[in-house]
Amino acid sequence: MTTRLVSMDKIAIKQLYEVPQHFDTVANWIYEQWWKKPGNTIEVVKQPLREHLEKKDFPLTLVALEGEKPAGSVLLIENDGISELPDLTPWLAALYVAPRFRRQGVGPQLVQALEQHARQIGYKKLYLVATDRVSFYKDLSWGIYTKMGGKTGITIMHKQL
Ligand SMILES: CC(C)(COP(=O)(O)OP(=O)(O)OC[C@H]1O[C@@H](n2cnc3c(N)ncnc32)[C@H](O)[C@@H]1OP(=O)(O)O)[C@@H](O)C(=O)NCCC(=O)NCCS
Repeated sequence: MTTRLVSMDKIAIKQLYEVPQHFDTVANWIYEQWWKKPGNTIEVVKQPLREHLEKKDFPLTLVALEGEKPAGSVLLIENDGISELPDLTPWLAALYVAPRFRRQGVGPQLVQALEQHARQIGYKKLYLVATDRVSFYKDLSWGIYTKMGGKTGITIMHKQL
């Protein structure tokens, strides 16, 4: 197996509406990682994601690209389905880096690009749901907002922009 390092200056970040040819790839990543279960089809992801094909500031999906190849994606959305915290908004969600691009800084680059975009459109805070990746986000200066659901629970994290 060969190790392949991506030089960060080769990674570009675009909005999904600029690269609609990658819609199916992004939907598939999200479905396989979080939504594939009995009773769900990929439509459960595609239906809300179609809104992100429109040219607008919010909600949106950012896609990391190495040349023409999609390397990862992340979403900025109004609510990540935490019904106990309906007033918190907006959320960074569904951060995903394709396996062969991992451990090379693509994830942090996507998070920082999303933070910058959220700041530019006027948000002062950003939230996310972390399952087992709390330290990844702590390294990017996110803090713990609250923990939910006991031992197997999730951690809500936040960052001042
Ligand atoms: C979590 C995820 C987005 C991280 O993206 P990434 O681009 O690989 O992020 P980084 O480049 O910072 O690398 C993360 C890991 O590589 C390590 N790393 C980074 N650069 C490295 C290097 N040059 N050499 C060795 N290790 C390195 C980091 O310490 C970190 O270690 P860990 O995986 O053991 O925690 C990615 O693994 C992923 O998509 N996972 C599946 C979906 C998911 O869990 N999303 C987060 C939801 S909360």
